[in-house]
Parts: sequence; structure tokens; C-alpha cells
Amino acid sequence: MARIAIIGTGRMAQGLGRGWARVGHTIIFGSRSPERKAHIAAQVEGAQVADPPEALDGADIVVIAIPYEAVESFAHDYSLWLQGKLVIDISNPFDHLPDNRISGAEITARAIGSDAHVVAAFKANFWQTLLEPVDPSGVVRDVHFAGDDERDKQIMAQLIHDLDFRPVDCGPLRNARVLDAMVSLIVELDMRYAAGARRASWKLLD
Ligand SMILES: NC(=O)c1ccc[n+]([C@@H]2O[C@H](COP(=O)([O-])OP(=O)(O)OC[C@H]3O[C@@H](n4cnc5c(N)ncnc54)[C@H](OP(=O)(O)O)[C@@H]3O)[C@@H](O)[C@H]2O)c1
Repeated sequence: MARIAIIGTGRMAQGLGRGWARVGHTIIFGSRSPERKAHIAAQVEGAQVADPPEALDGADIVVIAIPYEAVESFAHDYSLWLQGKLVIDISNPFDHLPDNRISGAEITARAIGSDAHVVAAFKANFWQTLLEPVDPSGVVRDVHFAGDDERDKQIMAQLIHDLDFRPVDCGPLRNARVLDAMVSLIVELDMRYAAGARRASWKLLD
């Protein structure tokens, strides 16, 4: 079982934390205001809330679950803590990227610098579905991910299995450019076909 630092204490952080804590991973949330967010630990089995340095210390895996605009500076400021660790970037740039020639996750990897191990994942999975891996018609939802290191991706796939979703390996980290674009499209489709219920998912039928 892994020690997972989840940076942020919002909707995605809590959903992922709950799911992983259930199968025995140790969760430590990294918050800008750990005292004010301490109550969140009570909702996630065995979890703690600490400031980011304390959360990162000793973590095997880091999930960055803060707004996209804050991710690059976070990765830069904490690069020494992040180097060598599997860093899961779930953030969505939406219209913050000037074009589609780079992804948010590649910018995160660049900010971490040497020995960056970044995987992009969960980008297009609405928080409302995190604890609902099987949709009402019985279909297992997919989680698409991209990364450059095969071992990192094996761990990522296992973490996705741990939540009872199906992992879909989308190839190298540069393919996170496509994942970023899939987010805007699923938001549009969800509005058109599901009245904005935020339960739509991408599904690979193979
Ligand atoms: N919502 C979704 O369905 C969804 C789906 C896929 C991916 N994502 C991505 O996942 C990330 C988190 O989304 P969310 O919906 O969980 O957001 P959220 O509920 O607003 O939570 C974000 C958390 O990040 C921290 N935070 C806020 N502003 C920050 C800043 N300027 N610098 C550092 N930390 C800050 C806060 O925790 P503290 O106050 O404790 O520090 C906050 O609880 C985003 O990048 C989003 O694009 C969201």
C-alpha cells in the first residue's frame, strides 16, 4: 500500500482520497490552511491534513488536485520534493493554454525539472463520478492517462483499478495534449446530451 499525498482538499481531492483510503492506501492531504481543513480528514479513513511540505515528506505518490493556474508555480516551488516521485497531474487548463502544442502535464513536468515522473490522469472524469465507477447501465467507466515511464504507468493503472475504474493507457505524456482537449469536449457533450448532470464519461469500446 502506498502513502499518497493529495495536494488540495476540494472535490477531486476528497473523492480520490476516499476511494484510495477504502482499499488501504494512506492519504495525507496538503492544504494551504491545514487547521481550517482538518475536518476533511474525518471523512476519509485514516487520513491527515497537513501543510504541503509535511504532506510531501515521505509520500510515494503525489496527486496535484489544485486549480490549473496554481499548478506550475506549485511544481516549481516544490520541485525538490517532487523529483523522483510519481506525480499525478489531474488539472484542467481549459482555455489557459495558448494553443494545443503543449499540455498542462508537460508544463508541470518541466517545472519539476530533472527526474520528473509526471502522469496525466482523471482529466475528463467529473468529480461526481469518482465514487461511481460503474454507470447506471452497468458499464465500467474509463480513466484515461498518459505518461512516459512504463513503471509509473503500471502504478497508475493499479491506482485506477483500486477505484474500480478501467485504466486506459493513452501513451506518452505528449498525448496529454489530447486529454486536455477531451475535457472541453466532454463538458460540451455533457451539456448537450445530459443537461449538465456531470456524469458523462469517455468510453473506449475495444
Ligand atoms: N471538478 C471536476 O469534476 C474535475 C474533474 C477532473 C479534473 N479536475 C481538476 O482537478 C483540480 C481540482 O478540482 P476540484 O474540482 O477538486 O477543485 P476545488 O473543489 O475547487 O478544490 C481545489 C482545492 O485546491 C486548493 N486551492 C485552491 N486555490 C488554490 C491556489 N490558488 N493555490 C493552491 N491551492 C489552491 C484548495 O485547497 P486548500 O484550500 O486546502 O489549499 C481547494 O480545496 C482542478 O485542477 C480541476 O481542473 C476537476
